[in-house]
Amino acid sequence: MRFHFPIIIIDEDFRSENASGFGIRALVKAIEGEGMEALGVTSYGDLSSFAQQQSRGSAFILSVDDEELTSDEAEETIAELRAFVQEIRFRNAEIPIFLYGETRTSRHIPNDVLRELHGFIHMFEDTPEFIARYVVREAKAYLDSLAPPFFRALVHYASDGSYSWHCPGHSGGVAFLKSPVGHMFHQFFGENMLRADVCNAVEELGQLLDHTGPIAASERNAARITHSDHLFFVTNGTSTSNKIVWNSTVAPGDIVVVDRNCHKSILHSIIMTGAIPVFLMPTRNNYGIIGPIPKSEFKWENIQKKIAKNPFIEDKNAMPRVLTITQSTYDGVLYNVEEIKEELDGKIDTLHFDEAWLPHAAFHDFYGDYHAIGKDRARCKESMVFSTQSTHKLLAGLSQASQILVQDSQTRKLDKDLFNEAYLMHTSTSPQYAIIASCDVAAAMMEEPGGTALVEESIQEAMEFRRAMRKVDEEWGADWWFKVWGPDDELAEEGMGEREDWMLKANERWHGFGNLAEGFNMLDPIKATIITPGLDVDGAFGDSGIPAGILTKYLAEHGIIVEKCGLYSFFIMFTIGITKGRWNTLVTELQQFKDDYDKNEPLWRVMPEFVAKHPRYERIGLADLCQQIHDVYKLHNVARLTTDMYLSEMEPAMRPTDAWSMMAHRKIERVSIDELEGRITAMLVTPYPPGIPLLIPGERFNKTIVDYLKFARTFNERFPGFETDVHGLVKEKEDGGVARYCVDCVAQPQP
Ligand SMILES: Cc1ncc(COP(=O)(O)O)c(C=O)c1O
Repeated sequence: MRFHFPIIIIDEDFRSENASGFGIRALVKAIEGEGMEALGVTSYGDLSSFAQQQSRGSAFILSVDDEELTSDEAEETIAELRAFVQEIRFRNAEIPIFLYGETRTSRHIPNDVLRELHGFIHMFEDTPEFIARYVVREAKAYLDSLAPPFFRALVHYASDGSYSWHCPGHSGGVAFLKSPVGHMFHQFFGENMLRADVCNAVEELGQLLDHTGPIAASERNAARITHSDHLFFVTNGTSTSNKIVWNSTVAPGDIVVVDRNCHKSILHSIIMTGAIPVFLMPTRNNYGIIGPIPKSEFKWENIQKKIAKNPFIEDKNAMPRVLTITQSTYDGVLYNVEEIKEELDGKIDTLHFDEAWLPHAAFHDFYGDYHAIGKDRARCKESMVFSTQSTHKLLAGLSQASQILVQDSQTRKLDKDLFNEAYLMHTSTSPQYAIIASCDVAAAMMEEPGGTALVEESIQEAMEFRRAMRKVDEEWGADWWFKVWGPDDELAEEGMGEREDWMLKANERWHGFGNLAEGFNMLDPIKATIITPGLDVDGAFGDSGIPAGILTKYLAEHGIIVEKCGLYSFFIMFTIGITKGRWNTLVTELQQFKDDYDKNEPLWRVMPEFVAKHPRYERIGLADLCQQIHDVYKLHNVARLTTDMYLSEMEPAMRPTDAWSMMAHRKIERVSIDELEGRITAMLVTPYPPGIPLLIPGERFNKTIVDYLKFARTFNERFPGFETDVHGLVKEKEDGGVARYCVDCVAQPQP
């Protein structure tokens, strides 16, 4: 496989008709003669943008002529050189950098620059061919060092040209070439993807399921990079990582302590393992943003009280098997993990942090103790610490790339063989090798200093976005504009600012989560929740408003897809894939929306694709539609309704696993929502937005929840296209086309 990484040459004389220009062009020719590409430029332009080229090149050659080092310019030349070297080394510790000079020597270059160089070559001493061989040797050695173990082995295997008799049956993509549509598929994905799609019969690649060979070497490499004791790649997402962690430590009847704001995979784990959950309740503000679980909820006495109250727990003194916390919440709220460890070490067997949205935090000091496992983090005395991370969400992993990190305690080490039994239970025997390779590469990309630079760049861009939104707001003055949720007053004027700026302090108005413990929570700045006008943090509706569901549909028609949408808020993330172009385009599209809204442009003009699906809105103005939906939200006080619903007392009437069994045995009834109050659900009930499970199998419907479902029915009938989606709710059409909304509940015994 031939990779394209040119040697990048910076010389102001690159195109000049002088000795220096002839010299450097002769070097380019000689480099090309060695089979490498070379790329010449005459200046860096913007230094930090130029330094990004480190990811595309195999070496840099910086030309400095005598004049630049002797005249009045000398100081400036050295300063520029230093700035360039620092920018490159901030991102890349290894890429070779050469100086290319006339007669000046290392005596004229300060040590801090010299020590970063791979050579100081002299234009008129050696032949261009000799210099080219020297540079190319270093550049090739650098390129050879880049690939981590599994990716390296896979590239080698896919390029090897051997015939294979193993699965998958498309045999390196050849099967696709036998049909026209298959040909299209082949052209779209390309030969390498298909040649690298192999099965676990290929011994030289090692085994994911047994953690052997290059795969094991890559997992060890990723463990070193993430500062964990053990690390396992998972190819079915963090949904599966969570189940593996749980199945490795929880059995039927065990007590488990769970964040009520958890991903459904945790609820599936509860059902699967037959555990009995006690829930820690998060706060929630009137925007509908889920806040942190207050520190008091983590107090052992409080957990003991919950255990004592739970009717299904027989042995009230049994040690809970696992604590699972959503670290970060969907809007980016983080917990101080050391404080949780201090409170619960030795009280709960395993402390599990679901860090699906936080794999980046270990690579920057900015996040301090606000993530689970990292450099120099103290071990618990007894409890094991697990972190499950979606590599694909914030790092450079393919969809479903995930990893499990483990930190042993002072007194216990992970038994890898036992753990692997749970791993095997959930892992396909035909894992996708491209996903494994992306786990491997994503980890290698985060090696210091590159990983730190990538995270820093995301934070910087997120800050720039916030500053840009604030500037637009100031410019609009009294006119309306969007707000980015966060401690706005603390926003640094330039740069990243400090972690302290992002702490959630007690009773601050911006978050609305009340009296939080000092130093327990921070907001991750790379997660940005954008608030639309119409609802304030006290839950008061304005006279007019812009429901986020309309705005996000508008944005989608203009090529901007957001991550999550609430009533008057939507959510975007600044992953390591962020670009200035992406967030600046969002700002300009928001400006476009404002313009169209203020002019009350008709929907046929501004949202034609949506109108094609829902012609009933064709002639309505954008502002009028916003007003109609806003009025309905206001009339039903939906913000309060959803807050009350999530914070209402959930009564466990059956063990989740028993309620699930009733479903599996069809001992259920499909109950209309008008009859639901007091019934026990056999299904997970999850409203979108926000996508957080509301009821789990075995819990009873209360009046607040039923009122919400009735509201959803009324709303959906009135505003097709903007439906509130509730997973677990079954919509049936009755005779006459009227929709009936039902939930599958545990059958009641016949009187
Ligand atoms: C908190 C949390 N945990 C786990 C998951 C599942 O991750 P994956 O999509 O990688 O399976 C998600 C997905 O959104 C999540 O939000």
